[in-house]
Amino acid sequence: MCLGNICRSPTAEAIFRKKLTERGIVAELDSAGTANYHVGHKSDSRSIHHAEKKGYSMTHLGRQVEVSDFHKFDLILAMDSANFSNLLKVCNDEKLKYKIKMMTDYCNDQSVKEVPDPYHGTAEDFEKVIDILENCVEKLISKHF
Ligand code: 4NP
Repeated sequence: MCLGNICRSPTAEAIFRKKLTERGIVAELDSAGTANYHVGHKSDSRSIHHAEKKGYSMTHLGRQVEVSDFHKFDLILAMDSANFSNLLKVCNDEKLKYKIKMMTDYCNDQSVKEVPDPYHGTAEDFEKVIDILENCVEKLISKHF
């Protein structure tokens, strides 16, 4: 889960999907934004470009998080603390809030506290997002799958 659902969370979804497929693991994955600016939009062309360079295919169309997501999914991963706080507000069932975690809880480098928003950044910022997410997704898979 990120803000616009066109940069960080669809990148995370693409990385997660590829790594699970490589391991023959079947799981339901999706991504969403806490904002609605990019509902129905393709991912940011810069995210698609940098992901493709590393072999990840991004086909997601933007959507906004829904209350039903907290029922449907076992784990809801926020890319930064602002999105984490917003997810806690959107989730109207106290008993489901335990599902919301920070993606960087799974980062090997615990000095990384958030997946930084690359939207106003440079090519290096988009590559950094992929590096952080690859690291988190590896650990996430080894822990939960
Ligand atoms: P994301 O990046 O939350 O990683 O998808 C952003 C995308 C769009 C905007 C901000 C961040 N925006 O302001 O439109």
